[in-house]
This record gives sequence, structure tokens and C-alpha cells, in this order.
Amino acid sequence: MNWPSYGQGVLRPLLRRAILKLDPLPSTLRVLLDQGAAPHVRPLLEDVLSELTLPYVMVEWAPSEARKDLAQVEELARELVREWLDRRCLLLAVGGGVTTDVGGFVAATLLRGLRWGAIPTTLLGMADAALGGKTAVNLPEGKNLVGAFHAPEFVIADVDLLAGLPPREWRSGLGEILKAGLIGDAELLCQLEELPGAALRRPGPEILEVVSAAGRVKMRIVIADPKEEGERMLLNLGHSFAHALEAAAGYGRLAHGEAVGLGLRCAARLATRMEIAEEDLELRVRKLLARLGLPLAYDGELPGHAALTRLLIRDKKAREGRIDLVLPVRPEQCLVVRGMEPEAVAEALYDTLGPP
Ligand SMILES: NC(=O)c1ccc[n+]([C@@H]2O[C@H](COP(=O)([O-])OP(=O)(O)OC[C@H]3O[C@@H](n4cnc5c(N)ncnc54)[C@H](O)[C@@H]3O)[C@@H](O)[C@H]2O)c1
Ligand SMILES: [Zn+2]
Repeated sequence: MNWPSYGQGVLRPLLRRAILKLDPLPSTLRVLLDQGAAPHVRPLLEDVLSELTLPYVMVEWAPSEARKDLAQVEELARELVREWLDRRCLLLAVGGGVTTDVGGFVAATLLRGLRWGAIPTTLLGMADAALGGKTAVNLPEGKNLVGAFHAPEFVIADVDLLAGLPPREWRSGLGEILKAGLIGDAELLCQLEELPGAALRRPGPEILEVVSAAGRVKMRIVIADPKEEGERMLLNLGHSFAHALEAAAGYGRLAHGEAVGLGLRCAARLATRMEIAEEDLELRVRKLLARLGLPLAYDGELPGHAALTRLLIRDKKAREGRIDLVLPVRPEQCLVVRGMEPEAVAEALYDTLGPP
């Protein structure tokens, strides 16, 4: 699996180089472009692709969690095959995590597998979603239930593309960056505590430093466990709670990284109650969430006990009604606790975020 490239103002030279390095060279390109990113990136993409004199078709779409489904995969795939296409085609997915998940999944399945490249344009995409080769779409029964492992040929993350990112999407990315720090980079946590808040919400050297550090944490784990058979589970820190909260809120209402932030709080609280966490960990997580502008409370009514338990065991990480949960011990050290009772996990969530 190739390491992602990070930089500021690097997309033009790096994309050109990444395409020219492919062997065999692509016969044609298909670009799936996130409408939200288009104003910042479309002219540049068109320049690079025209210079390379490769035929391409660009399809712009408006991504959303609700449209991350099989119907959309069919629609996009049909649009992408309308003009001649063979297996030497390269698909570029340019956008947030929804676009790289859907684009990657289309690439994994169209003509039984096309090469693809990811150009994440959200902070969350750069820190997490575009990395590691997991691609998927949702079913009504749950998130990311239909998918494939299909690693991109390259990932290019240029923080200049973040210039027009809405505040909520900055926060969302910072939630996953905080998770990465807790899992595998104590220095990153210190940076999040010390860097000026405004510098963490605009393109610049500070955000470049923290987002690439988060990417390194993820890539180290993914390379050790590409098919999620062991260590990769650590990347789910906070996610059992987060997925249940996202589903309870209705997909799209709570930004993923915001839900992850709440999940980290729940995980830190539970670990503290179980006396496995370092003394000040819970407080540190809470202060970091506040500093990063992430919610500390759930805005809405929490589901009742039975409904929450159902949501928790619907998560892909639940087996036979029990939940394998990742809990933080101290920065750079997490534990996987296997076979937890869903009731105990639900209790921890109420304990942290209030009664239903
Ligand atoms: N495959 C993985 O390993 C993995 C990991 C984490 C998350 N994910 C997935 O990622 C998704 C969330 O990704 P996301 O948070 O990027 O959300 P998203 O893709 O929905 O993008 C959020 C919004 O930002 C807009 N946008 C994108 N780039 C922009 C830019 N440069 N300027 C302004 N607006 C822009 C989009 O149009 C969209 O409205 C979830 O579906 C989640 O399941 C996947
Ligand atoms: Zn996540």
C-alpha cells in the first residue's frame, strides 16, 4: 500500500507525477468530483489532465451520507461507462470521505476492478477516509455494509483545497485527528493542545503538520493489518458509540467526526470507570474536544435502552450480541476489550452524555 503524500500547493505537480508513474499508463480517466470541492479544484484538475493529453470524463455530484448507497453506485457507474472504457482506465475520486468511499467502491467493482487515485478535499478525508483502501456504501440496515478492500494507487492531500471548508467539516476532521493522536501519537495530542486554535481551522503549516501526523498513525496500522484482522481494530476507537449516535440522530445530522468526538468521550469515561485509563485521560479528552470546538453533549434526545442496545449490536464490530470495544489507556496505548455486554456499553453512553 502506498503512503499518501501531503503538502500545501502540491496537487498540480504531484498529480501529474503520480499519473505518469503508473505502469501501464491509463488509457483514459474518469473523475468523480465532489461538487463542494469543485470550485477549488476543478480548473486545476482540468489543466493537469489536458496537459497530459489523456482523454477524461468528469462527473460532478453532490455527495451526502444519504446518497452513499447502491442506487448511487449504479447511477455513477452507468454515467462513467457511457463512453468507452477498458481496464486500463484510472478513476480519480476527488472529494470528501463519501466521494472517496463511493468512488473507491465503484473502482473496486466496475469491470471487476479499476485502478484509482484519491484526492481528499475534506480534513476528515485527508486524515482518515481516503487512506487505507477500505471502500463502501451504506444499506438501510447500517453504514458501510457493502464494500471492498481496494487500495488506491496514490493519495494526494493538498491542504490548500481546504480553503472553503465549512466550520462543521473542520471540526469533523479534527475529531478523527484527535482519535489518531490518542491511538498512536502522543506528540500530536500536545500539538492539538498547544497550537493556536485558529491555525487548526485554516490551510497552513500547522494543519498540514497535524493532518499528516494523523495520516501516519492510520497508515502504520493499516500496513500492519490491511484486511482488518487484528490491530486495525484500534482505528475504531470511539466508533461503536459514534455509529450508534449517528444512526440515532439520522444519518447526516451529526457530522461523523463530531460523533467520533462524543464516542471518544464515552470511551474515555468507560475506561476510567473500569480503572484501566490513566488518571487524567478523561479530563484531557474533554478539554481537547472543547478546544477543537467539538460537541461535548448530544444535541437531541438519546434513544431509550432497548433502541440503543439494538443500535450498538448492529455495528459491524458486534458479534453474537456482544461488542468488541477499543478503550484508551493512555496516549499511544489502547486496549481491545472483547465480548462486552451491550447493556454495559449503553450504560457508559448514558453515563457520559446524560439519561435518555
Ligand atoms: N474508508 C474509510 O476508511 C473511512 C474512514 C473514515 C470515514 N469514512 C467515511 O467518510 C465519510 C465522511 O467524509 P467527510 O466528512 O469528508 O464527509 P463528506 O464527503 O460528506 O463531505 C462533507 C461536505 O463537504 C463538502 N466538501 C468537500 N470538499 C470540500 C471543500 N474542499 N470545500 C468545501 N466543501 C467541501 C462536500 O460536498 C460535503 O457537502 C463517511 O461516509 C464515512 O463513513 C471512511
Ligand atoms: Zn471514523
